[in-house]
Amino acid sequence: MCGIIGYIGKKDTLPVLIQGLRRLEYRGYDSAGIAIINDQKIQRVRSVGKIDTLAEKVKDFDLSGTVGIAHTRWATHGGVTEENAHPHVSLDGKLAICHNGIIENYRELKDELEKKGFTFVSETDTEVLAHLIGSLYSGNLVSSVEAALMRVRGTYGLVVVHADHPDMIVAARMGSPLVIGVGKGEYFVASDATPLLPYTSDMVFLDDGEVAVISRDSFETFSKTHTHVEKEVTTIEWSEAEAQTQGYPHFMIKEIFDQPTVFEDAIRGRYDLEEGTARLSGLNMTDTQMRSVKRVILIACGTASYAGMAGKYAFERLAGIPTEVDVASEFRYRDPIIDSETLVFGISQSGETADTLAALREAKRKGAFVRGIVNVVGSTIARETDGGTYIHAGPELAVASTKAYTNMVAILILYALQFGRLKRLTPATGQRVLKALLEVPHKMNRVLEMREKIKEIARTYKDYHNMYFLGRGINYPIALEGSLKLKEIAYIHSEGYQGGEMKHGPIALLSKDFPVVAIMAKDQLYEKMRSNVEEVRARGARLLLIATEGDESAKSLADDVIYVPETMELLQPLVNTLPLQIFAYEIAVALGRDVDRPRNLAKSVTVE
Ligand code: AGP
Repeated sequence: MCGIIGYIGKKDTLPVLIQGLRRLEYRGYDSAGIAIINDQKIQRVRSVGKIDTLAEKVKDFDLSGTVGIAHTRWATHGGVTEENAHPHVSLDGKLAICHNGIIENYRELKDELEKKGFTFVSETDTEVLAHLIGSLYSGNLVSSVEAALMRVRGTYGLVVVHADHPDMIVAARMGSPLVIGVGKGEYFVASDATPLLPYTSDMVFLDDGEVAVISRDSFETFSKTHTHVEKEVTTIEWSEAEAQTQGYPHFMIKEIFDQPTVFEDAIRGRYDLEEGTARLSGLNMTDTQMRSVKRVILIACGTASYAGMAGKYAFERLAGIPTEVDVASEFRYRDPIIDSETLVFGISQSGETADTLAALREAKRKGAFVRGIVNVVGSTIARETDGGTYIHAGPELAVASTKAYTNMVAILILYALQFGRLKRLTPATGQRVLKALLEVPHKMNRVLEMREKIKEIARTYKDYHNMYFLGRGINYPIALEGSLKLKEIAYIHSEGYQGGEMKHGPIALLSKDFPVVAIMAKDQLYEKMRSNVEEVRARGARLLLIATEGDESAKSLADDVIYVPETMELLQPLVNTLPLQIFAYEIAVALGRDVDRPRNLAKSVTVE
């Protein structure tokens, strides 16, 4: 969703801000803007649409200066207009602010300010903040920001500059992330680490309620009561190169092809082949506590929840622990039954998903062990949980999640194994799982080698308006994930179903114009799935099968077949999902979609 970048240093700030905005594009946005302090004045330029439009527009202005802030806006309060784009300015035009989040009491604040004679040119809650801070300003920027924030209800990650204070950016966080990038004689501030990677790996993550005062040579952080807070500098291991498309036309296909490598990063050093177990060290639970766990709940949204569904199979089969998967937005409102023998994992690529975060807070309140399985280092979920594991997928910049999904599944399998070995699994079974896991990158590569063939098939499916994705057992969450990918990036309506459910209703829709993609892997449900596929076939629907190599009979059953290498059943999400990712990608490309930034979607969903 919205993105923030700010810079204070010795460099010309405009190129830094423009490059930063480009690196925030992946979050999704519909307008953008920049404010720079130039000659004791705020110079502001905003535009609707792509950063390219803004980059053209700034050429007509004198935007030289060494301190500035910029923003990508994803409309919430008010339409997509230049007036609503950030930065917003105070009445005297001397203060500029960029804000992520939602000010819940903005209407009452606006009424109050209007009565005092303030006029508004936008429909945003952020302009209210600009005027509120401006109304409280009498020479001390920090205290006016702090005083304004005392009046505010809601969430914010914000940066403020003032023409009278050309040596300062004030940043504040409540529920919406902000990261300070530590350079040499320069500082950066952003809504996530990605735009900072070209400049520094040293980051400071603000916590809720904190205010940072950033100058060229130092920064200071304060609590809500203006008490000094000592902050730790975290070194991020992501490289600048990882955040580039590296010759691929889109981040999504690059990230699909990253999977064998990042999968190895996820499991490296985290297993013990001899003992047949995993060694994930961040759990912060003793063996006794781990043995006491009677129930696991996996909380997540979207793709991460489908990774959770695959993880459920692993936890139940390997560890024998009853496991539920809960979509985060539902979990907190259904008064979930939780106790001190419940282990809750929050699974999230961004680590900032508001629904997941709120659900985890609820679980914590009710006394569960709460742990995170997260990609983004230093993200809110990573910091608010009492332990857990980074999935090491590297920066994932396409809105449609791919490599984070496979790495989430990998970590869930390792956790299931670790619990299983403490409870009931033999070393031999553990070793069998690990050996199969070690073969996964090779099998992923075998699927990736089939890209051309998958592309050829995919293109013949591009003109359908509906599709079903079917699977059973562990392949059911894979079907859901395949269907989600197609919806997200190709904008084709599709639904994922359990193969056995078709005859209970959905089969009524099948016709020659309603194709089916079915995952019919050689596993314990093979015969059952095959019958479901026959049922589909009998209704004249076009059929694409994802089948196991060597299953020659699949050819006579389907119009198209994509063969995948045979894999241990529990590990099939790590291999069988890849052809579906490529399938959706190639259809989206053929349809000319904006693959990396699909309409209406944001990478990191920070509002409930
Ligand atoms: C994935 O393709 C989606 N864009 C979306 O479902 C995503 O997985 C979901 O919003 C959860 O995000 P998170 O992993 O960052 O928490």
